[in-house]
Amino acid sequence: RVGARIKSLLARMTLEEKIGQMVQIERANATAQVMKDYLIGSVLSGGGSVPAPKASPEQWVDMVNEIQKGALATRLGIPMIYGIDAVHGHNNVYNATIFPHNVGLGVTRDPDLLRRIGAATALEVRATGIPYAFAPCIAVCRDPRWGRCYESYSEDHKIVKMMTEIIPGLQGDIPANSRKGVPYVGGKDKVAACAKHYVGDGGTVKGINENNTIVSQHELYSIHMPAYYDSIIKGVATVMASYSSLNGMKMHANQKMLTGFLKNRLHFRGFVISDWEGIDRITYPPHANYTYSVQASILAGVDMVMVPYNYPEFINELSNLVKKNVIPMSRIDDAVKRILRVKFSMGLFETPLADNSLANEVGSKEHRELAREAVRKSLVLLQNGKSAAAGPLLPLPKKVPKILVAGSHADNLGYQCGGWTIEWQGIGGNNLTAGTTILNAIKATVDRSTQVVFNENPDPAFVKSNDFSYAIVVVGEQPYAETKGDNLNLTLPEPGPSTINNVCGAVKCVVVVVSGRPLVIEPYLASMDALVAAWLPGSEGQGVADALFGDYGFSGKLARTWFKRVDQLPMNVGDQHYDPLFPFGFGLTTKPSRQSS
Ligand code: IFM
Repeated sequence: RVGARIKSLLARMTLEEKIGQMVQIERANATAQVMKDYLIGSVLSGGGSVPAPKASPEQWVDMVNEIQKGALATRLGIPMIYGIDAVHGHNNVYNATIFPHNVGLGVTRDPDLLRRIGAATALEVRATGIPYAFAPCIAVCRDPRWGRCYESYSEDHKIVKMMTEIIPGLQGDIPANSRKGVPYVGGKDKVAACAKHYVGDGGTVKGINENNTIVSQHELYSIHMPAYYDSIIKGVATVMASYSSLNGMKMHANQKMLTGFLKNRLHFRGFVISDWEGIDRITYPPHANYTYSVQASILAGVDMVMVPYNYPEFINELSNLVKKNVIPMSRIDDAVKRILRVKFSMGLFETPLADNSLANEVGSKEHRELAREAVRKSLVLLQNGKSAAAGPLLPLPKKVPKILVAGSHADNLGYQCGGWTIEWQGIGGNNLTAGTTILNAIKATVDRSTQVVFNENPDPAFVKSNDFSYAIVVVGEQPYAETKGDNLNLTLPEPGPSTINNVCGAVKCVVVVVSGRPLVIEPYLASMDALVAAWLPGSEGQGVADALFGDYGFSGKLARTWFKRVDQLPMNVGDQHYDPLFPFGFGLTTKPSRQSS
């Protein structure tokens, strides 16, 4: 039925209408007039592009509907598809449930959890009138110097593959009789997903974002590709091309990989979307100009172009290339068919306008509980007790006279959430998203008689002059996204080291590291009684307190190698000279302890 509808619609479309479907513009440009004039097929919210500060689901619905009305007012009334980076929950709407970033979810090795997170995310995204999420990132990050390491589930392809279970959560379960590769998005509470960034984004030299991935065929197909096989089997609707190059060739111009392998060999029938201005970054061969970039990317197999730098120029160029027969009409038809297939299969033609019926799903109690469970399961206990003789520090007793909580990350939701939250770099997260900081979670967990003193960076004299039973020090990285996160030294940023030095020498302490990747931690290890990797836990800090105080046991196992020094990088499990501080798969456990609070 979908096939017949596509055929009939395509037969009625002009070249301009077809090309319009292939364009995705930023919402700041997407007035109803622009939608009509340029026949635009898709819109996205780039980083920080929300309808208003603290935007509510209702404000989102109004804004998306307004743009949609412009699309519906065109001759054929083809609905546009609105996309957003909902990469750990719907990180763009006030009060959303923010789940741990993928680096933490990989630790859980729990596909069922991922599936439930996918379903909750889909509900919250749909509640804002948006039917398309640019998630999941299925990069296999081989070098933590990469600024997007936290968007990767693991350095190990088997874990990343397992985590593609988030796709049926986001999109719904593909029917048993589906043809392989056909996209499936089942219902008004589901969203089209996007497996990204195809392929090898996590394997670039020194982890430099958008750089070159130099790999053998064996590494490509056995490490970076397996999660795509599974995503396609699960009916993923879209795949995003990577900014990176593969053995020197920009992926956005790589016909062999986009058309030859992904579409022909793997039978992917959804659409390939470029990354933001991705086609504009095709710089090779040296004579590459804009016309070349348009030609190379579309011929390579890009179906929808995300934010061509200058969209009227892109439309013009593509149209000329088709008229001159440089790009055959069959290629345009193929791209449009793929886009229409996703739109038809998800019911966008039947219900193009959203309503407010799902508004209460955003940040619901159930979703926050789910996020809290995910946080608990994502924690890795790396050290517990300075020595066997000293005995374990965790679980912490709830009922003691006085405890110290210190560190820049103890009471900061934005830091806890990390990049992409509310604003692209994550800096807007604090005060803009609701949730529980680790400090507040600690306060809510200890016995009422226990005094909790918070001092972000106390000096040693303060620590000594108080009779603290123990200290919880929460330090880590500040939020970053994409290239901004590339970091060649991976040291624990200040004031983390000062806080550890000021506190841990003076009182028993557990250090909780909030970061998107392992950091150089060895120099401080001897001073700590316990060490917990909390990754980027998101809005539900309560999950951290659940494990610290023994309401739940620690169970997480590293899904990344914890290196000693950066000169060891890249170092992954199975490497010949494997000499980590904590190996892949490491994680101490504790049993739940019964304590009243
Ligand atoms: O989806 C993202 C992608 O992961 C990185 N570049 C921008 C896109 C849209 O925001």
